[in-house]
Amino acid sequence: MQSSVAPLEDGRVNAVLSRSNQSKALPLRALQILVLFFVLCIVFSVISVYTVKHFGIQNVVTSVKDGFQPCYGKEPGTLESWIKPPSNLMHNLTDKELFWRASFVPRIKKYPFRRVPKIAFMFLTKGPLPLAPLWERFLKGHEGFYSIYIHSLPSFQAKFPSSSVFHNKQIPSQISEWGKMSMCDAERRLLANALLDISNERFMGAFDDPGPYGRGRYNENMAPLVDITRWRKGSQWFEINRKLAINIIEDTTFYPKFEQFCKPACYVDEHYFPTMLTIQAGNLLANRSITWVDWSRGGAHPATFGRTDITEEFFQRARGGHQCLYNNRNTSVCFLFARKIAPSAMEPLLRIAPKVLGF
Ligand SMILES: *[C@@H]1O[C@H](CO)[C@@H](O)[C@H](O)[C@H]1NC(C)=O
Ligand SMILES: *[C@@H]1O[C@H](CO)[C@@H](O)[C@H](O)[C@H]1NC(C)=O
Ligand SMILES: *[C@@H]1O[C@H](CO)[C@@H](O)[C@H](O)[C@H]1NC(C)=O
Repeated sequence: MQSSVAPLEDGRVNAVLSRSNQSKALPLRALQILVLFFVLCIVFSVISVYTVKHFGIQNVVTSVKDGFQPCYGKEPGTLESWIKPPSNLMHNLTDKELFWRASFVPRIKKYPFRRVPKIAFMFLTKGPLPLAPLWERFLKGHEGFYSIYIHSLPSFQAKFPSSSVFHNKQIPSQISEWGKMSMCDAERRLLANALLDISNERFMGAFDDPGPYGRGRYNENMAPLVDITRWRKGSQWFEINRKLAINIIEDTTFYPKFEQFCKPACYVDEHYFPTMLTIQAGNLLANRSITWVDWSRGGAHPATFGRTDITEEFFQRARGGHQCLYNNRNTSVCFLFARKIAPSAMEPLLRIAPKVLGF
């Protein structure tokens, strides 16, 4: 029942995967995807989503406008017409309208139809997805068990062919800057759009670190709403379920405090979700990082792995030798994400994937 909240560190790609104790509800294949996903994330992290950190200045907040066709089922009198997600992810809703709509929760827990839970993969990127071919291969054959959402620079024109899993997966986006509230806004936007599809059950994106690290960035003005003992820091990689996703998009309590009192050098995208969820739903959190990083090379940033680093030994190192608790059981599968993988790693990854990743 733990969801792991692990923040995204320097504005890389976010994937969100959620795993809670509802896992029994997940079909085997979806579970397989979960497991496979672990390694994929390694790849994923490279997709470098440097948000506009160095491009600063851009306060231009443009929202992408495009044809919104709710496109409900052909027969308006059927249940399907009420639950079918929009076939076009583009819409003209404001964030306020979107979050309101996304916060709908059915009170009757038993679905009166066959609901196949899906994993929503959410990509927070400037634009291109350098490791897209690996993702394509990873997802192949699992249609119906996943959804994809991409938040990019509003100006980015994706050129994915119609055969691609990424085709038309962009959501209405706005400029987001690393370390600023606009980054959290982008993550909330991804979650909200994904929540619109009632079949999405797990959300892969990112935030973490259990311990009260980073307390130095705590601002007493946040008390008593946020006290220092529950101040958390994480990278932005996370996997959460619908409940926690809704906690995040419905929040109007913590948001203004963080917006006002957590400004650089307090990097709000590393603290807002983990702290907020610790206070609101601490018992559902894993309290540990789900992102594998390698600091062994020293320096201010973790190691980046490129073409020559991708070997079987590399995977053994990333996956092996770990022990952690998951739903109160010991497990050796501790990480769903890994960083940082350079685009140059793609070719060897594609080559080695069948052997070490199983796809
Ligand atoms: C969004 O708004 C723009 C500008 O008003 C309009 O051209 C476009 O058709 C709208 N999209 C949808 C899906 O309604
Ligand atoms: C994580 O910490 C919270 C308290 O903040 C606790 O309630 C919860 O049980 C912890 N989760 C695990 C898996 O230990
Ligand atoms: C997990 O393993 C540790 C030793 O590595 C042991 O002390 C602990 O009891 C185990 N926990 C469970 C729930 O099996």
